[in-house]
Amino acid sequence: MTAPDRQLVTAPDELLRIEGLRKTFPGVVALDNVDFDLRRGEVHVLLGENGAGKSTLIKMLSGAYRPDHGRILAEGREVRIEGAQDAERLGIATIYQEFNLVPDLTVAENIFLGRQPRRYGLVDHRRMREDAEKLLHRVGVNVRPDAKVRELGIARLQMVEIAKALSLEARVLIMDEPTAVLTSEEVDKLFAIVRQLREDGVGIVFITHHLEEIAALGDRVTVLRDGRSIDQVPASTPEDELVQLMVGRSIEQQYPRERPERPDSADALLSVRGLTRDGVFHDISFDVHAGEVVGLAGLVGAGRTEVARAVFGADPYDAGTVDVRGERLARHDVPAAMGAGIGLVPEDRKGQG
Ligand SMILES: Nc1ncnc2c1ncn2[C@@H]1O[C@H](COP(=O)(O)OP(=O)(O)OP(=O)(O)O)[C@@H](O)[C@H]1O
Ligand SMILES: [Mg+2]
Repeated sequence: MTAPDRQLVTAPDELLRIEGLRKTFPGVVALDNVDFDLRRGEVHVLLGENGAGKSTLIKMLSGAYRPDHGRILAEGREVRIEGAQDAERLGIATIYQEFNLVPDLTVAENIFLGRQPRRYGLVDHRRMREDAEKLLHRVGVNVRPDAKVRELGIARLQMVEIAKALSLEARVLIMDEPTAVLTSEEVDKLFAIVRQLREDGVGIVFITHHLEEIAALGDRVTVLRDGRSIDQVPASTPEDELVQLMVGRSIEQQYPRERPERPDSADALLSVRGLTRDGVFHDISFDVHAGEVVGLAGLVGAGRTEVARAVFGADPYDAGTVDVRGERLARHDVPAAMGAGIGLVPEDRKGQG
């Protein structure tokens, strides 16, 4: 009798398998008994609320963290991923939300960082540019290989990261909320690239908070809640069921539609009246009460961001008033707004936050 071959234990198209993974930080169980698997040619979405453990999980696949317990198998063999080099050797490439590119190097230098093609012992710049050009063409992005990375906008940075992953011939591509910073046009482009990679047989782990992206792009979904893998479902699962799995109760319970009583406008926490900035927004009035979430809806360019900035004192306005708990707030005065207890999470969190 021959010993069973480990490779035969798992499905032939299985790239990765995680079993019973646990990771703690002082005072926090970030992951507990998590199972996950990834096949060739699929987009496997990791879904979960903030703090559910998604980033911690992928950081164990990229070698940034080591598990306390549990196993990771790559193509059926148990592996230890103790650093970025182990991940690279296994063909696992990760694109973090905070990109890992060096701003002062060129696009080509970033793609081949630490692995520049050499000729007679020197970096072969010409070949590096040509290879970079091919990769950039493959991801369909119009960037010069000798452009400095600091000159690029966020969507292009991401495409350069993907080109870099391709140059590593990644079999597993992990993307942590790649669409969070993209416009819808850029998202379409990213999806086209991801679909192409899937067709090429790459396995993709995709983290997103946007449920509509799951149906558009995903094959399977693993739902994490409080550090546990709650369920694995097809990407065609209706959104309300996904939400229920994610939060552990139905959305109606979480955000009741009917308010028990209509709050009185006299006890508004924030009261905006007739706010006007010439040429930008005009006569904006609304109240925000305790326990309320008020949406500002409108098309791109309608002035939503500008209204929020004016309320926060980041920009001046020409007419109108802002009251907090009945007290008039000084105009164009961020410290006063903060002193009154207003916070602003800006559109560009990383740049302006
Ligand atoms: N380095 C760390 N030290 C201590 N606690 C950590 C660390 N990293 C993560 N945690 C904690 O582990 C839990 C899981 O965090 P993680 O960042 O993995 O969540 P996430 O699902 O990626 O959330 P988000 O959607 O906000 O990105 C959280 O309670 C978090 O506070
Ligand atoms: Mg995260």
